[in-house]
Amino acid sequence: MLIGFFDSGIGGVTVLHEAAKTIKNADFLYYGDTENVPYGTKTKEQVKSYVRRAADFLVGKGVDVLVIACNTATSVAIEDLRNTYRLPIIGMEPAVKPAVENHKDKRVLVTATQLALREEKLKKLIARLDAADIVNLLPLQELVRFAEAEAFDSPEAARYLETELSRFDLSMFKTVVLGCTHFIYFRPLFKKLLGAVPDIDIIDGNRGTVNMLVKTLDQLGGDHQGAGHVTYYHSGVEVTDPQTLARYKRLLERLDNMG
Ligand code: DGL
Repeated sequence: MLIGFFDSGIGGVTVLHEAAKTIKNADFLYYGDTENVPYGTKTKEQVKSYVRRAADFLVGKGVDVLVIACNTATSVAIEDLRNTYRLPIIGMEPAVKPAVENHKDKRVLVTATQLALREEKLKKLIARLDAADIVNLLPLQELVRFAEAEAFDSPEAARYLETELSRFDLSMFKTVVLGCTHFIYFRPLFKKLLGAVPDIDIIDGNRGTVNMLVKTLDQLGGDHQGAGHVTYYHSGVEVTDPQTLARYKRLLERLDNMG
């Protein structure tokens, strides 16, 4: 099996990391759209065309399943993709559903990119869950830039996140949703800054997406050859230089150490 992962940059590596822990008999292609990152500040039409280009590329490479490891790309483009290609396409959505279901009537803070928070898809999800009264939205677009610069532990990132979170009385909240795959790298920082809030949950959609991927692979059945090898591409060009490959190794190690 060959599984394609796609994100605007390094965010999707957090989903790849989670998938590779569970799926041992597949190989992976990872496409980061480094020419166009960040997506969250772009228009819907721009993001749709970037996603289409990436999907064409990965489908052309013969992937059996495509994972859109990006909440923003999923929210604007997943329907188009499913209408265009025949292979299974798995997307991501901010984990509002488990947040609402786990703690009925308790407040939820949904963090994501500017574009993902504006999208109809999220509004519809919140309406379907009848959760408009208990959900607040917080765009944290700058975290994408900090992540791409690997400034995970920088004082600037900490100051930014602290300032943004301080807009809310956090004691009112039971759950914070990390609704962008880039934000996963900052989970330790979220934990630290939310440390004083009793019993607050910080959740994301990565496990749910990987569970769906496993189920899809089971349904596809067939030949499960593969050895966990990852080939990386940047906007359609294979990554071969040792420095960039070392960057991916470093990111995976960071995620390993986050547990
Ligand atoms: N990683 C992305 C997401 O999950 C997009 C970040 C961006 O490029 O703005 O939404």
